[in-house]
Amino acid sequence: MAENFVWQRKHLLGLKSLTKDEIEFILEGAKAFKEISSRRIKKVPALRGRTVVNLFFEASTRTRTSFELAAKRLSADVVNFSSSLSSLGKGESILDTLRNLETYSVDVFIIRHSHSGAALYVSQNTNASVINAGDGQNEHPTQALLDMFTVKQKFGSLSGLKVTIIGDIFHSRVARSNIWGFSKCGAEVWVCSLPTFIPKYFETMPAKITFDIEQALKDADVVMLLRIQNERLNKQFFPSLREYRQLVTLTDDRISLLKKRTLILHPGPINWDIDIASGLKPQVHPLILEQASNGLAVRMAVIYMLMEKRQYEFAG
Ligand code: CP
Repeated sequence: MAENFVWQRKHLLGLKSLTKDEIEFILEGAKAFKEISSRRIKKVPALRGRTVVNLFFEASTRTRTSFELAAKRLSADVVNFSSSLSSLGKGESILDTLRNLETYSVDVFIIRHSHSGAALYVSQNTNASVINAGDGQNEHPTQALLDMFTVKQKFGSLSGLKVTIIGDIFHSRVARSNIWGFSKCGAEVWVCSLPTFIPKYFETMPAKITFDIEQALKDADVVMLLRIQNERLNKQFFPSLREYRQLVTLTDDRISLLKKRTLILHPGPINWDIDIASGLKPQVHPLILEQASNGLAVRMAVIYMLMEKRQYEFAG
């Protein structure tokens, strides 16, 4: 990261538009915030008096809870908006919802929505900062940042690593953000699935494509499994789960092809015996849970950085 780097952006909408320096700045900050979570008093007054609104229009366990906790550990006031309990069901538009919430002098909106571009739309219609917590099939930047943080903790650097992403690439915002993020930081990214799950436009992205899982696993330093996003499937992408398991699922036999130090990641939620054989749970689940726990530190860093736009000076 360049010396005297200063964060300038108001929003975090995706990793495609970020520079390597910006990504490394967030990852560096997350290290300091992870330390805070190991203290007896896991809270700093950095964002006292600031207001953060979690705007979740789509289901979430990990992202919503870790953003909420991240904002609370920074001492911000947090409001959780859930579309299913809101007046959207009575016909109120997103824009009117936003206008009403804005009257509380909101500093940060964190948005998850099933439509690609929703976070950009909100950022164009508010004076607050906006963090994309996953928009349709577009991007999920903080998921990729926590994945990169987890890998960097293990390997020290991302440069030169082979990172293989396996599963439903087509519908995955996690795959897209990870391809942008890891490739900008010097890793070699591979994507592997059934041909129907890797659309042609992935050829324009900085990733190697293979339909051969053995080639994808060979020499991989990181293997990231993705679930089939049934809620986004609008046609038959594979003949049967039996066939999917034969060609894609990480099994005992396939895991034996990996190097000893290979890190296995999954953004969650996991569909055992489809993404990963359930017999591998004792071996892989603790690491995947550690990956999820890193989301807290990364999201603290992102919220803080967008608010303060400067080096991390909160410690102590
Ligand atoms: N990885 C992820 O985004 O999980 P949630 O949908 O539970 O937030």
